[in-house]
Amino acid sequence: MTQVLAINGSPRREKGNTAAILNPLVEGMADSECTVETIYPDRYEIRPCDCGSMRCWYRSPGKCYIRDGMDDLYPKVSAAEILVLAAPVYIPLPGAFQNVLNRLCPLMVPELEMRDGRTRAHLRDGVATKMLVGIVTTGWWERGNGDVVSLIFEELAANLGVQLGAILVRPHIGAMWSNGSLTAGGADVVAAARQAGIELATDGSVSPETTAAFERPLVTEREYLEASRGWLG
Ligand SMILES: Cc1cc2nc3c(=O)[nH]c(=O)nc-3n(C[C@H](O)[C@H](O)[C@H](O)COP(=O)(O)O)c2cc1C
Repeated sequence: MTQVLAINGSPRREKGNTAAILNPLVEGMADSECTVETIYPDRYEIRPCDCGSMRCWYRSPGKCYIRDGMDDLYPKVSAAEILVLAAPVYIPLPGAFQNVLNRLCPLMVPELEMRDGRTRAHLRDGVATKMLVGIVTTGWWERGNGDVVSLIFEELAANLGVQLGAILVRPHIGAMWSNGSLTAGGADVVAAARQAGIELATDGSVSPETTAAFERPLVTEREYLEASRGWLG
């Protein structure tokens, strides 16, 4: 069984839009020889990185000096062969989730090298992570709203020295529902999320067809803008 840790960065946790697509994705993985745990950072009371001097690299290699919820999270991240990071765009990220990303530094070794023209670190021995998957949910219409968070996930995978399994962006995610019920298009996105989980677990990547089904427009730009007038009340 492949160990998967999914980190859902939404402060709305199980009730949020992010959970609505992350959950079927990890179910697809669980049905494909994976053991999955999903966690929510703001249940762990994680403080920001505040030493400002990379103590976890140079003074106490591999150890963060802060004692808080990360003490419980480090073993989970270290044991995960696949790390699924899912976050809503929050200009750019929810705070507790950002704290987790910053606090991953102790898991990296500062043996810097150039890879593809960029200065990169790599993971410490004993950290099992081989692949990172990024899921981005956005409220606004176009996929480009997810670009900043996508780049954060891409850079993180490169700095950890792990394979980037996929970046999946779900734009105008609110259009998956109408009057609180999943629309037909929304149900297709849920099915694509589940299929993506199966493909990640079996092939280590997501096919262009499944990516297109996951990310496809559910309403036109004009319909989106017209509906948005109603949100002003
Ligand atoms: C503080 C904040 C900032 C946001 N900024 C953006 C944004 O810049 N672009 C965008 O497309 N959506 C933005 N959104 C919308 C969320 O990304 C979107 O509703 C997301 O699906 C929420 O996921 P959740 O329900 O799992 O928390 C923002 C939401 C909040 C609360």
